[in-house]
Amino acid sequence: MIPETTGPAAVIVLAAGAGTRMKSRTPKILHEIGGRSMVGHALLAARSINPGRLALVVRHERDLVARHLKELDPEALIVDQDDVPGTGRAVEVAVQALDAQEKLAGTVVVTYGDVPLLTGSLLADLVATHEREANAVTVLTALLDDATGYGRILRGDDSSVTGIREHKDATETERLIREVNSGIYAFDADVLRDALVHITTDNSQGEKYLTDVLGLARQSGGRVAAVVTEDRWQVEGANDRVQLSALGAELNRRTVEAWMRAGVTVVDPATTWIDSAVALDEDVRILPNTQLHGATTVARDAVVGPDTTLTDVSIGERTKVTRTHGSGAVIGADAAVGPFTYLRPGTVLGDTGKIGAFYETKNVTIGRGSKLSHLGYAGDAEIGEDTNIGCGNITANYDGEKKHRTVIGSGVRTGSNTVFVAPVTVGDGAYSGAGAVIRKDVPAGALVLSVAAQRNAEGWVVANRPGSRSAELAQAATSDSSHTPASTEEDQR
Ligand code: UD1
Ligand code: MG
Repeated sequence: MIPETTGPAAVIVLAAGAGTRMKSRTPKILHEIGGRSMVGHALLAARSINPGRLALVVRHERDLVARHLKELDPEALIVDQDDVPGTGRAVEVAVQALDAQEKLAGTVVVTYGDVPLLTGSLLADLVATHEREANAVTVLTALLDDATGYGRILRGDDSSVTGIREHKDATETERLIREVNSGIYAFDADVLRDALVHITTDNSQGEKYLTDVLGLARQSGGRVAAVVTEDRWQVEGANDRVQLSALGAELNRRTVEAWMRAGVTVVDPATTWIDSAVALDEDVRILPNTQLHGATTVARDAVVGPDTTLTDVSIGERTKVTRTHGSGAVIGADAAVGPFTYLRPGTVLGDTGKIGAFYETKNVTIGRGSKLSHLGYAGDAEIGEDTNIGCGNITANYDGEKKHRTVIGSGVRTGSNTVFVAPVTVGDGAYSGAGAVIRKDVPAGALVLSVAAQRNAEGWVVANRPGSRSAELAQAATSDSSHTPASTEEDQR
């Protein structure tokens, strides 16, 4: 069953090229910008115009690409290109595969898997013009200062589009043409099918050129037209890593600008990186040198940064996250994180809670109002509400072989340097003294102390470090008449 849509009959995304200039073991279209593969961007733009069907033509590293596609867009049809090279052949095999499902009729759009900044709205404009003008072919073009390498748009005396000449096949005069073929088109399905049969590999590259469809369509009486975009980024492909980074920077510039227009304060757009899938509320403030990745979300009036990197983290309203590196965490409202905090996956901090300086957390649920303010590690643990975890507390969760859980109740107060040797449970309202090593469960309301008697060896420094500055000062202090040290070793609590 093919769903009813208002969009074109199909979009065919070409992705069979080798992408050798990336010099990578990863297929070119799987390289990412804005936290999403290039083909992921291409598929989202294609889907946004509601095509009846979506096909991706693959060949190079076919299995890796196919696996990625299954995750991104399981409904899309994977079409394998054969040994015949060229964009014309790529579209021909796709049309054959789609026809085999159900004969294509109406508008067929062709795009590239390596043109990541193309938007659905430009594609929708292309389709709208194509259908309004009842064209046989409508090609998306752009005017470039340097058109080297691109197919040039040939126009007749009446300025109507007569064809496309590939750079390698062009004459000197044709190479002066600045209007280029983006490689993105809307075709009438019947015109496309009929023309593809007649395309040969008789050209300088020995390929079946899709661009030859334009001349053939015109010869058989069809109208061929162009939609010219002024936004060259939307038709730019990434062939190597220099272009990949330029496209990534431009995508980021657009993403950051869109968020500012939507009511987010970005203090320094140049050092702020926001992935495409991130969601921000109005009145969020992003401070310099902050990177928001994956599906990170930030709620109203929260402040993130400076110097913060968050991946798949959700931040509640009015929360402040300062100099933090985090992933897979959920932080409630009116909470505080940082500075110098490492949030690892599974960290959940309740409203008004705090994870402070030099804390590492992992797989820990911290209740409302609880605070882990300074220097420590909380992993594989559950902490109740309004608990205060003292400075330097550690959950000793790993026995060398297995991880164990620590459960700490609500209203607990722990002394500095408390160690929870998991598995262990501390009841509500319990207290611990400084340096407590908790190996056994602590009942609610108890004070837990781990006390080894303190032993002072009087005179040790003078006896064992003679001539040192310490010994000199110790000597001076103990010979002071007002100071009367105990003559024997003394135990203190
Ligand atoms: C193509 C166009 C050119 C246009 C340029 C825009 C043709 C003949 N030329 O040139 O007019 O200016 O794109 O970038 O169409 N692909 C396949 N199978 C193939 C060959 C390519 O799927 O056999 C895919 C590639 O993966 C890529 C796209 O088609 O996504 C374009 O291929 P590429 O080799 O870059 O075409 P160009 O020669 O640059
Ligand atoms: Mg190319």
